[in-house]
Amino acid sequence: MIILDSDIGDDIDDAFAVAMLMHIPEIDLIGITTVYRNCEQRAKIASALLKLYNREDIGVYAGVNKPIKQAIYIAPYETKQPDGTPNIPHYYEDMNESVYKEQHAVDFILDMLEKHPNEITLVAIGPLTNFAYAYMKSPDVFKKAKQIVFMGGQIEGNYAEWNIKCDPEAAKIVFEASVPIKIVTLETTKLCEFSEEDIRFVQSINTPQMTFINRMFQKWLVDNNGRRPPIMYDPLTVGTLVQDFCEFERMKVHITLEGKERAMIRRAKEGESFTVMDVSINVKHREFIEYLKQKLLDTKEII
Ligand code: RIB
Ligand code: CA
Repeated sequence: MIILDSDIGDDIDDAFAVAMLMHIPEIDLIGITTVYRNCEQRAKIASALLKLYNREDIGVYAGVNKPIKQAIYIAPYETKQPDGTPNIPHYYEDMNESVYKEQHAVDFILDMLEKHPNEITLVAIGPLTNFAYAYMKSPDVFKKAKQIVFMGGQIEGNYAEWNIKCDPEAAKIVFEASVPIKIVTLETTKLCEFSEEDIRFVQSINTPQMTFINRMFQKWLVDNNGRRPPIMYDPLTVGTLVQDFCEFERMKVHITLEGKERAMIRRAKEGESFTVMDVSINVKHREFIEYLKQKLLDTKEII
């Protein structure tokens, strides 16, 4: 069983991760929780997508908008609501009718962990704020998670990866929560980029589900204006649940919260605090991209 915690609606790869999951029947997705900035709009996007897959049995739960300590990032071109809540770029007014659960994401996570001890893998493809609040609310229940799989962090080269940078305090809390953790790093995920040909392939899939995603994808391409190719960080992370696309090394990882290294992770030096975790160290990136494309195309597998 997995719970997917996502910041769907900003970068495009979360939507591809959710879509890919809909084509992997061997993964038992029991809920999607949303995190960061405007969880309500994100929940409506996820819900609308699940509906197109006829998977309204999977509940969507809105979580925590604000990081534990720092302010949220809002790009100059983004619009805000009167109370300062940012609008999510891939949220469209026609998604307004889509419904998500009333229960808060943090309570849903804790309820499920209580009900299914040592059976649930928590998969985070956004900042770790929801998981950190779940831990702070009930550490003993949180420890009933079987494993955490997290897209985040860069081990080498002093770089603060986005999902940690958005809420470093939450990352530290989750790292220290005594749940086995596997991270799929920026170094490996960033190799999973779409070529021009991949983009054309994806855009040519005209199922209702992919038409929904391709509208978001087109906006992403326009907003991104060629600055970088679309990168499938989050789909790869989900893909590691079912196939050996990455090799992992067990290492002692240190996270820094202060100074110039804030939000960075690296191998712990002698005497530093650390968490032992499995860290992706390489990736069969082309193999993964072909896997993803075939999944998106294969309507037979949609449950
Ligand atoms: O650094 C990559 C992560 O940030 C991914 O989860 C991607 O979706 C972006 O939000
Ligand atoms: Ca993400």
